[in-house]
Amino acid sequence: MTAPTAPDPGRILSRAPAPEEAQLERALRPRSFAEYVGQEQAVASLQVSVEAARRRGECVDHVLLYGPPGLGKTTLAGILANEMATSLVTTSGPAIERGADLMGILTNLGTNDVLFIDEIHRLPRAVEELLYPAMEDFAVNFVIDKGLHARTLKYALRPFTLVAATTRPGMLSAPLRERFGILHHLDFYSEPELARIVTRSAAILESPIDPDGAAEIARRSRGTPRIVNRLLRRVRDYAQVAGDGVVTAAIARDALDREGVDGRGLDRLDRRFLTALLEVYGGGPAGLEAIAATINDDPETLAELVEPYLLKIGFLAREPRGRRATAEACAHLGKPLPARAAGGQGALFE
Ligand SMILES: Nc1ncnc2c1ncn2[C@@H]1O[C@H](COP(=O)(O)OP(=O)(O)O)[C@@H](O)[C@H]1O
Ligand SMILES: [Mg+2]
Repeated sequence: MTAPTAPDPGRILSRAPAPEEAQLERALRPRSFAEYVGQEQAVASLQVSVEAARRRGECVDHVLLYGPPGLGKTTLAGILANEMATSLVTTSGPAIERGADLMGILTNLGTNDVLFIDEIHRLPRAVEELLYPAMEDFAVNFVIDKGLHARTLKYALRPFTLVAATTRPGMLSAPLRERFGILHHLDFYSEPELARIVTRSAAILESPIDPDGAAEIARRSRGTPRIVNRLLRRVRDYAQVAGDGVVTAAIARDALDREGVDGRGLDRLDRRFLTALLEVYGGGPAGLEAIAATINDDPETLAELVEPYLLKIGFLAREPRGRRATAEACAHLGKPLPARAAGGQGALFE
């Protein structure tokens, strides 16, 4: 098997913002519930939790946010801290390698602070177990001495709220999942919501945009605020060079076509994925690993960034034996619907 190629830095589908993009993301990130567009159910319920906690002078129960990348999990963690008027301490599962790292973070938290752990599914198991008493009793247990003299010392923490985010809730252990009092699934955004987000972002960037321009970018941003902002940046540059600076529907269409983002928001990687599934596997069903090997990309990327949206828009169906491309996907790509391969191995082997 060949190693996956390094992701193309200009690619629309990438998990985290590129360094120069991170600064822009911070500027565009909503700071209050009022500025946060969509996800009404999660927001309404969190607002109640915050209000109740504020009246009691306590911290909010621990919160688990899950859903595909770029939908506003980190943003919500920041908003919770702002609305509670406490500090936000940010870390991530892979950043906490040893128990001591987590102990250091926990013992330094102030009263009612929000601790945000991103990608919590990647927390090492030994570290995860230290979290249990911290979440349950606001305490950590230190083991001192060895063998016969070993003793555990209980060290009290100040009350805090753990806000954890994950793109892979299925990878969390049951004991960890059960310790969250509040769980919210963030789903893809509607086009009108994305149009509101892109209009707000354009105003912050002082970039003129008309409603049709906003709608066109929204349509191509695969339900994802991070991507709508990413596309706005590309379109804004193009509007300045090829137009008079105003983001119109025609400018957005031209700019995004050039970027390889099509009318449904699929980028080159989505199309490579679907094309491989259709041409190599007769439309499927095929396993994600097999498709990943065929297109020389990494299965994690496909599982997190490509598959959820294709499932959402009905271009892909999940079956017990793998993924299958739908008639809608074929129509979109202008390819004939493959006759279902009898053995399930696909056209390659016929
Ligand atoms: N509900 C929202 N309203 C407006 N902008 C949003 C919203 N959710 C996310 N964003 C924008 O999208 C970007 C990515 O969001 P982020 O919270 O980092 O996503 P996640 O942590 O889920 O990957 C943020 O910089 C923010 O500007
Ligand atoms: Mg995030």
